[in-house]
Amino acid sequence: MARYAAWNIEAARALVARMSRLDGAAMPILHALQDEFGYVDREAVPLIADALNLSRAEVHGTVTFYHDFRERPAGRRVIKLCRAEACQAVGCESLVDHLARRHGVAVDATTADGDLTVETVYCLGNCALGPAALVDGELVGRLDAESLSALCHGGAVEMAQSPEGGAA
Ligand code: FES
Repeated sequence: MARYAAWNIEAARALVARMSRLDGAAMPILHALQDEFGYVDREAVPLIADALNLSRAEVHGTVTFYHDFRERPAGRRVIKLCRAEACQAVGCESLVDHLARRHGVAVDATTADGDLTVETVYCLGNCALGPAALVDGELVGRLDAESLSALCHGGAVEMAQSPEGGAA
């Protein structure tokens, strides 16, 4: 289920050229690259720097400052687990432990086989249905160890959602 294009420097160059005239183009370009490839390849840094007349250090600094930007390819499934207060109150940290023990993946890491990336987010606006997560961009609520494991194994996101948008 490849959701992202494989890194391609010529496609990236064309994207940068298309967007370089926007006001404050660096952030839109970085988001567009990540949307396209799933991460911001290090080869994109000089492309952006040259197009926007910035130093490479400035562009690299922007990529590393914002946690939303990945510097390595994402796993085939991306789970962004909410660890803000309301989700903490209903057990999200036990899910972090579960991920480490059962699936061998730490938060903000990708499994060695490239199957799974787990990232931390802080509040998805789904506090009443916590613990909450975004799974491949889809909101899931009322996660527990079992439903999280199913999602880690590529289970359908819909199966983890209740009719009202949370999780069963
Ligand atoms: S605190 Fe987790 S969705 Fe708001």
